[in-house]
Amino acid sequence: MTKRILALSLVAFSLIAATAYSVAQPPQPDAVAPASATRILDLITARRVLMSAIGTKTDIFRGYVDESIPLDGERGRELAGDISTMLLAFPHLFPPETNPDTVGEEVQADPATSTLANAAIWDDFDAFYSEAESVSDLALQLQETETDDAFLAGATDLIAACDSCHANWRQEEEPYEIPIPFQ
Ligand code: HEC
Repeated sequence: MTKRILALSLVAFSLIAATAYSVAQPPQPDAVAPASATRILDLITARRVLMSAIGTKTDIFRGYVDESIPLDGERGRELAGDISTMLLAFPHLFPPETNPDTVGEEVQADPATSTLANAAIWDDFDAFYSEAESVSDLALQLQETETDDAFLAGATDLIAACDSCHANWRQEEEPYEIPIPFQ
């Protein structure tokens, strides 16, 4: 009898302990759930829009360098700071589910959802990640330049760094040919 009471109270104790434990556990965040197909497309769009915004800002630097836009050092340094921050976020938008080799032909066939990322990114993610970090750092140094000459030299280096990252990690864009009907 005593044994049975002891056994029952042990069961009761472990039930209470289990309840207390589960109450103490915070709910598991959704982020651990596999990304849904929609979220994958959203991720691809997000990184393309982010890059496109970096491109618009960098076009102003191209204008400063070729003198088609008069140099405004204050604005240029502000843009460089923005680009640096954006490049820090950029490589985090490349989960393996967004690899062009695995997203599926339908996604890649539609220009609105396709990605031009090079599948090599996922073969050596650390190298891709550290290139993004070092170009972000270059933009930060550009923000901190003190003379116009230093700014223009830094802007030229940054533009070259964009091109070099694209040569390493972006697919060649297929030239779009306007179909001309056979005459
Ligand atoms: C770490 C490597 C890396 C760096 C640094 C980088 N890019 Fe990119 N960029 C990419 C990749 C990868 C893509 C393709 C993204 C995709 O299609 O999913 C891309 C896409 C783009 C696009 C096309 C966006 C679109 O409409 O789809 C533009 C424009 C662009 N980059 C401009 C720049 C500029 C300007 C810089 C320099 C300030 C820069 N990038 C720096 C890797 C990089």
